[in-house]
Amino acid sequence: MHGQDRFLLAGVMGWPISHSRSPKIHNYWLARYGLDGVYVPLAIEPERLAAALRALPALNFSGCNLTIPHKEAALAIVDDLDPTAKRVGAVNCVVVEEDGTLVGRNYDGFGFTASLRAAAPMWRADAGPAAVIGAGGAARAVIAGLIDAGATEVRVFNRTLERAETLARDFGPPVVAHRWEAREAGLADAALLVNTTSQGMVGQPPLDLRLDALPAGALVSDIVYAPLETPLLAAARARGLVAVDGLGMLIHQARPAFRDWFGIMPEATPELRAMIEATL
Ligand code: ATR
Repeated sequence: MHGQDRFLLAGVMGWPISHSRSPKIHNYWLARYGLDGVYVPLAIEPERLAAALRALPALNFSGCNLTIPHKEAALAIVDDLDPTAKRVGAVNCVVVEEDGTLVGRNYDGFGFTASLRAAAPMWRADAGPAAVIGAGGAARAVIAGLIDAGATEVRVFNRTLERAETLARDFGPPVVAHRWEAREAGLADAALLVNTTSQGMVGQPPLDLRLDALPAGALVSDIVYAPLETPLLAAARARGLVAVDGLGMLIHQARPAFRDWFGIMPEATPELRAMIEATL
C-alpha cells in the first residue's frame, strides 16, 4: 500500500485486454471510497510481460492484475510468490512493495469461495464432499480456495484422467482424482458441484452431466459468466438447488487485490454487480 497523498495507479495486463471487466470494478471502488486514482487496461504482448511488470515500480503503480495469457508466465518473473499462487501455479495479482519488490498472489480461489458464501451464507467447505469438474488452471484455483476454506474432500472428475491424477498428486489429500465416467455417481453425497470447464459457455455445448444424484441442499456453481445462466445452472435451479454463477467470483477476487494496493477491503455491492451485468 502506498500513501494516499499521491495519485493511485493499478491495472490489468492481458493480450487481448478489451473484454476485461476489471477496470469497471476497480474504478467503481476508487470512486466509492473517495480515492484519487485510476485502474487501466494494459494490452501487453506475451514477449513484453517481463518488461511491463518490471516497469511498474518506476511508474508508481501499486500493482496489477494478470489475465490470459500471462498468469502462468508471471510465476518466473515476480520476485516473490505467496503460497497460494505457488500452489495454483498461476499469478492473478501482482503487488508492488515499498522497496519495489514484485509479489505474485492468486485470489481466484478466494473469489470463488467468497462468492459462494455471499450467495449461500450457510455454506461450509467442510459440510461434505465437493465435486469439481475439470482439472485445468481454473480447477486449480477453485481447489486452492476450497482447501483454504477448510474442505475435507475434493473429488476431481476430468475427461483426461491423467490430468486429474497430476492435480490430486500436486495438492495431496483432500483432493482425489476420479474417472470421468464416475462423475454422476460421484455426486450422490456431494455438498457442492462446480464446473471449471468451458462447457456451457457461450459458443460451447452444455456440460454433459445429469444432476439427478445430487442431494437436496447441494450448491451448484459455474465459474463462467457468459452466459450468467448456463444450462448447468438452469438445471440446478429447476431441481430447486441453489445455483451460483461466475460473476460473483470475478467481483470477489478483485476485493483482496484492491485491499493490497489501496488499503481498503471493498464491498461487493448489488449496485456493482448490476453495473457489470449490464455490460454482459
Ligand atoms: P482453464 O485454465 O480455463 O482451466 P484448461 O487448462 O485448458 O483451461 O482446462 C480446460 C478444462 O476443460 C480441462 O479440464 C478439460 O479437460 P481435459 O483435461 O480432458 O482436456 C476440460 N474440457 C474441455 N473441453 C471439454 C469437453 N468437451 N468435455 C469435458 N471436459 C472438457
